[in-house]
Amino acid sequence: MEISEAHARELEKQAARKAELQALVASDLADTKSILFEAGCGHGHWLTSYGEANPNTKCVGIDLISWRIRKGLDKCTKRGLRNVHFYKAELGEFLEVLPSTIKFEQTVLLFPDPWPKAKHHRRRMVQTEFLDEVARRTDVGGTFCFRSDDRPYFDWAVEHLNAHSEWEIDPQAPWPHEMETYFQKLMDAYYSVVARRV
Ligand SMILES: C[S@@+](CC[C@H](N)C(=O)[O-])C[C@H]1O[C@@H](n2cnc3c(N)ncnc32)[C@H](O)[C@@H]1O
Repeated sequence: MEISEAHARELEKQAARKAELQALVASDLADTKSILFEAGCGHGHWLTSYGEANPNTKCVGIDLISWRIRKGLDKCTKRGLRNVHFYKAELGEFLEVLPSTIKFEQTVLLFPDPWPKAKHHRRRMVQTEFLDEVARRTDVGGTFCFRSDDRPYFDWAVEHLNAHSEWEIDPQAPWPHEMETYFQKLMDAYYSVVARRV
């Protein structure tokens, strides 16, 4: 099938972007065996606070938006954090380039975009395929932590976790770290769930 010139250029740009990200990640995380992973980290409030309190944990945050990632990186520089890394990356692309040997001790999603319209639900980060991939990278006992102000999206996350054979919701599990994110500050109420890899 022939592809248009514009589409071909877009594919080239995507390949170059992924190659650059892959090289950066490979060099930063060369000897890393496991990480705490935050998808959609925004300005990095939570991750920098967690990383400061847990200096022996390698923390990785990704977000689509460059200036939010720059804010996270600035926080790391100001506080001299060497165990926290931020990347401007799309979730699927990041998981493609992250070495398959790197495990997730914990995965954290804080106030991810709820995509309320049914026709947009496929854009939500929580999908069976995403939970499959996180499960593949998580040893038994590791956790998946989700927090949202949007009740329908929270219920969607709970349903997907309950339907997944490798995740079990643990109502007793403590929340890994309390630090208000930018979006949490804007919300009156929110819901949290922690699931364990089984
Ligand atoms: C509502 S904000 C929440 C940010 C932060 N977690 C907080 O609580 O302040 C959702 C974030 O997810 C990012 N995001 C959405 N889809 C993404 C994707 N597919 N890959 C990476 N980041 C994504 C957005 O750019 C945005 O910064």
